[in-house]
Amino acid sequence: MPRYTAPRGTLDVLPQDQPYWRYVTERAHHIARLYGFEQISTPIFETTELFVRGVGEGTDIVDKEIYNFQDKGGEEIALRPEFTAGIMRAFIEHGMHTWPKPVKLYSIGPIFRYERPQAGRYRQHHQFNVEALGEQDPALDAEIMEVVHHLYADLGFGDIAFQINSTGCPQCRPGYVRLLVEYYRGHIDQLCDDCKRRLTRNPLRMLDCKADQCQPLIAGAPHFVDHLCRECAEHFATLQSYLSALGRSFTVNHRLVRGLDYYTKTVFEAWAEGIGAQSAVCGGGRYDGLIELLGGPPTPGIGFGSGIERIILTMKAQEIAVPTLPHPNVLIAPLGSEAKRRAVTLLADMRAADVAALLSFGDRSLKAQLRTADRQKIRYVVVLGQDELHNAQAVVKDMVNGGEQYNVPLNALIAWIRERAIS
Ligand code: HAM
Repeated sequence: MPRYTAPRGTLDVLPQDQPYWRYVTERAHHIARLYGFEQISTPIFETTELFVRGVGEGTDIVDKEIYNFQDKGGEEIALRPEFTAGIMRAFIEHGMHTWPKPVKLYSIGPIFRYERPQAGRYRQHHQFNVEALGEQDPALDAEIMEVVHHLYADLGFGDIAFQINSTGCPQCRPGYVRLLVEYYRGHIDQLCDDCKRRLTRNPLRMLDCKADQCQPLIAGAPHFVDHLCRECAEHFATLQSYLSALGRSFTVNHRLVRGLDYYTKTVFEAWAEGIGAQSAVCGGGRYDGLIELLGGPPTPGIGFGSGIERIILTMKAQEIAVPTLPHPNVLIAPLGSEAKRRAVTLLADMRAADVAALLSFGDRSLKAQLRTADRQKIRYVVVLGQDELHNAQAVVKDMVNGGEQYNVPLNALIAWIRERAIS
């Protein structure tokens, strides 16, 4: 028989890890609502063309990582490699430009990228994604970053530091890119093969090349922030003044350009301890031209995505505990077939009364049933035998208090349990 395993780069989230998932997503929902964001759910697949146009040809995401296929009707489909393009498609499709601005939307769900799997890098990951549309005010950029900061602080992250940069706008970007290309052309022999390609296809991405041989060149490259138009420079300066006023720690990182083509002005990432060198736990930025590029009315936007797996890795690395999930605290242990029949109806009554309880299956000795309860960390064992049925009462064993026993009338049992087992 073949031995089936989860596809490379995917994770099974086993029950012992669910408390992290539950806690992180609950806090994300809560904080998104606190800032006035409403949830939107879009399909996990869209037409491939949406991502080619939105994220951009020449990006790793579109060129190398997209999971795309032709469906049975011959349509080109892609599993979403990010949230933003799909949400913009929904914004346009549902006429959200008529909604009060900014339109604030958030999503939580799976994302697919055919990447080389490693710690914190998967082929299916999940993002908490936040977008705000229809407003250029840098106060909104600061607010978006506040959502990130608030969530991480709420979860208990130690240091939270932002890397920020500005990638300009259609007015100032061409001039800067020309300058960058000129600079790199003077050093073409020193470039890695990828950067030789990027020089013509996507010069900005040369700034975040990881190859050793490109590092000295990156260090000497001109900085975008020195070549911004007035509007972009003012926007960036104002954002920094807000971040300083909020007391957030941030570094202007001249190499930060991000791997998606739609960004304009602000780009940012947050890096965290515990997920490998320079791995971002979140990344985002402004994309003032994207909605128009996808066929909608000119509408600025800004947002971020944060990988839930990376958030959880960070929490584990920083030894941040999460509340455990509630589990049944009552086991009904019947002795004999008549008691089993009574146990079945008693369980139905308990569950109807919202008391989480389990039945001990099979015909096992009381000792074996008590062992089960102990292993499953169940506190109360309701023993039902012939005598108990006859007297219409159960013996309840408290597994924590040295096995102390109580005789409880069956008609009062649920109330008795509710008082103790649910708190
Ligand atoms: P991104 O930087 O590609 O941005 O991804 C956002 C976050 O998702 C990353 O910072 C990281 O935490 C997580 N992530 C990305 N790829 C992986 C992976 N292979 N495995 C595990 N986690 C991963 C975007 O996707 C933009 N759409 C964000 C955005 C929203 N910008 C504006 N609005």
